[in-house]
Amino acid sequence: MKVLVATEKPFAAAAVEGIKKEVESAGHELVLLEKYTEKAQLLHAVKDADAMIIRSDKVDAEVLDAAEKLQIVVRAGAGYDNIDLKAATSHHVVAENTPGQNSNAVAELVFGMLVMAVRNFYNGKSGTELKGKRLGILAFGNVGRNVARVAKGFGMEVYAYDAFCPADVIEAAGVHACKSQDELFESCDIVSLHIPATPETLKSIGYQLVNKLPKGGVLINTARKEVINEDELLKLLADRTDLKYVTDIMPDADAAFKKLEGRYFSTPKKMGAQTAEANINAGIAAAKQINAYFADGCTKYQVNK
Ligand code: 3PG
Repeated sequence: MKVLVATEKPFAAAAVEGIKKEVESAGHELVLLEKYTEKAQLLHAVKDADAMIIRSDKVDAEVLDAAEKLQIVVRAGAGYDNIDLKAATSHHVVAENTPGQNSNAVAELVFGMLVMAVRNFYNGKSGTELKGKRLGILAFGNVGRNVARVAKGFGMEVYAYDAFCPADVIEAAGVHACKSQDELFESCDIVSLHIPATPETLKSIGYQLVNKLPKGGVLINTARKEVINEDELLKLLADRTDLKYVTDIMPDADAAFKKLEGRYFSTPKKMGAQTAEANINAGIAAAKQINAYFADGCTKYQVNK
């Protein structure tokens, strides 16, 4: 079987080596398409692929049409909003993700960016510490739980809200469970977003909600840009000059946000999962899932059931 790794943002070399070993150990062939710049390159590469490993790479109906032999696509990572699941199902393609494999990397970046934000982006002015501050985690999944663990190391008070995770599970992790998003934003100095991009969460983080942050509040986004209502957030940040926004996913309105000097930062390219460890964990997990699918039809991590 031909296993295509199609990554516009490549894995670390050690991860590619690990994926290759894994795929070849099962008698399959690995084909690499890295740093591609045109969709046409992807359309060409998928033509004879039986399986595909991707990151944030878009797999839409056009890609699936071109992928005549494709049986399985694995998103090496958590969020699978880049795969058209309906189209995958109608093309009889199994779509999977690798939950939890890159979550520590994303959680660590949250604190890298937070320290920078509360120290005024290292501009020389006196900042604040994270110790003793209240951190709100919006969605208590794999990344949220890692964020809670690290936050406790910083001596932060940790709060969380998750529409799908029962309060007793959150409390069992030593985290205060909030009853709503509103309560989370009202109760915390900093809120960290870990919600997926779904029809329910699109543009759900807007003026009214973020305005509930107390004076000097910080919003940090290492989830998806689509969950932010950018127009509303820009308006709020203009009205509330005490608030800061830091993000690992550059907003469409980056140029407008950049005018909020000293209160905004975006990484140039999503960096949360960009560590050797996360690439190795997620990439090899993806390869193993593909091997298991071809060996005995295992679809444990299927997201288009
Ligand atoms: C994920 O959903 O796993 C993260 O957002 C990482 O995405 P990436 O592999 O595109 O960096």
